[in-house]
Amino acid sequence: MTIETTDHSLLERPEWKALAAHFEDNRNRTLRDLFAADPDRGSTLSAEGAELFFDFSKNRLDSSTISMLIDLANACGLKERAEKMFTGVKINITEDRAVLHTALRAPRDTVVEVDGENVIPHVHEVLDRMAAFADKIRSGSWTGHTGKRIKNVVNIGIGGSDLGPVMAYEALKPFSDRSMTFRFVSNVDGNDFAEKTRDLSPEETLFIISSKTFTTLETMTNAHTARDWSLAGLGGDESAVAKHFVAVSTNAEGVGGFGIDTHNMFGFWDWVGGRYSMDSAIGLSTMLAIGPDHFQEMLDGFHEMDVHFRSTPLEENLPVLLGLVGLWNRNFLGCDTVAVLPYDNELCRFSAYLQQLEMESNGKHVTLGGDRVGWDTCPVIWGEPGTNGQHAFYQMIHQGTKPVPCDFICFCQPANPIGDHQDKLVSNVFAQAEALAFGKTEAEVKAEGVADALLPHKEFDGNRPTNVIMTQKLDPKTLGRLVALYEHKVFTQGTIWGINSFDQWGVELGKVLAKKIIPELSQSETVTDHDSSTNQLINRYRAHRLG
Ligand code: F6P
Repeated sequence: MTIETTDHSLLERPEWKALAAHFEDNRNRTLRDLFAADPDRGSTLSAEGAELFFDFSKNRLDSSTISMLIDLANACGLKERAEKMFTGVKINITEDRAVLHTALRAPRDTVVEVDGENVIPHVHEVLDRMAAFADKIRSGSWTGHTGKRIKNVVNIGIGGSDLGPVMAYEALKPFSDRSMTFRFVSNVDGNDFAEKTRDLSPEETLFIISSKTFTTLETMTNAHTARDWSLAGLGGDESAVAKHFVAVSTNAEGVGGFGIDTHNMFGFWDWVGGRYSMDSAIGLSTMLAIGPDHFQEMLDGFHEMDVHFRSTPLEENLPVLLGLVGLWNRNFLGCDTVAVLPYDNELCRFSAYLQQLEMESNGKHVTLGGDRVGWDTCPVIWGEPGTNGQHAFYQMIHQGTKPVPCDFICFCQPANPIGDHQDKLVSNVFAQAEALAFGKTEAEVKAEGVADALLPHKEFDGNRPTNVIMTQKLDPKTLGRLVALYEHKVFTQGTIWGINSFDQWGVELGKVLAKKIIPELSQSETVTDHDSSTNQLINRYRAHRLG
């Protein structure tokens, strides 16, 4: 069945039409105009919740835009659909699954049922087992095959089984056990495994094989290589595997088949999407690094944001506002990308994490009803920490041809207070957002004595949308709150766009084709059954692969 119909129903909604008309009416109002018209705009267009402060006043909208966006969210049933998610209704309709990452951080006494069974006791049973295991590793009471203490932990996983763990490890390094080494192998490129293990001793190394499905090509290839590497370093005794390998998966059969004792497996469930799983057992490496108490704090932070999202009126609801402002920029201003710019070096992998969270969730061209969407969905998400990005790509954000909405994320207190570094760092957030909003007119540039020929080059249009998210400091709780903020932003946008944010069929075709091509790369006959380009590439590689 091909997609025959394009769905325009969202565009037909009176709330959407009202927004479109409002956009046209205000098309030429600049941020300079908007700030001049309302001296309190900064506070009017800010919100606070779960200890995060969110200033969205430097977007090309006003309070009436926000009310109209909220009307749209209400018309699309945002609150009702969120309730369905929180209560275990199977809203992931293409996979017939509930969507319950919020259950992963719910307190012990919560009741959330899937198919008539309360899932919360299972969540806490796994968390308790993870904590007991983490205590053993961290205290040294769990030793390797030769009796040596485990000093190195290598997480093998990819996508949601890697990006969350590596992002959290980097973000929470100041809370980690510095006597241990943590590495993350994801790429099927053998260089990744080789480089991450070259200085490690197999006797002191634990591998966590993290894969929801336990079938992913990259992870299974790396897991087998790790097994060979381990056994080669431990004298080839198969029984060593039990001391050096644990698994995190929903697939007990696959784990057993690989040779890992299922007693050393930490499970999760099909109602946890891979990109929503860093707070499930997929976070085992995080717990080993920061310890069970800090891990619990991170879960508490997630839960705080869940409660905020579920119970706060839409006009003060941070994830909803972040989602609605993003939708305004995407669908009305026509912005194709969003830059997420954390001003904290420890959030160096945060944008990469959000790329999967947002683009795998909302990078969809089909509605829940199976028609082609008649509106744009997820923009490209990208970014790097500031201030480094300022010296690389900010030129385009300031003077490129299309606005790039930015989320600036900053903290009042650094993990490492050194001299005046933090003031210098954070001053750049405020300055960048100010410069992007207000720019510098030709007259202002001229008044500085700049030569006429240079005026167009030195002028800044401004009027470029930005958000600032500010909070006290980056700690486990804050990280949980921040990640949940973006999870629920994705939900908000996906609900209005009418798409399924919880499947990812678009990743399948390439995987299937690669499986077919793998044996062709080493076959003796010339490959002829693809298109002329693919045949050419395969045959050229075959001719040169052995040097
Ligand atoms: O290929 C995409 C994907 O399925 C992601 O959704 C997922 O996070 C990743 O692969 C890894 O999957 P798994 O945890 O099953 O190995």
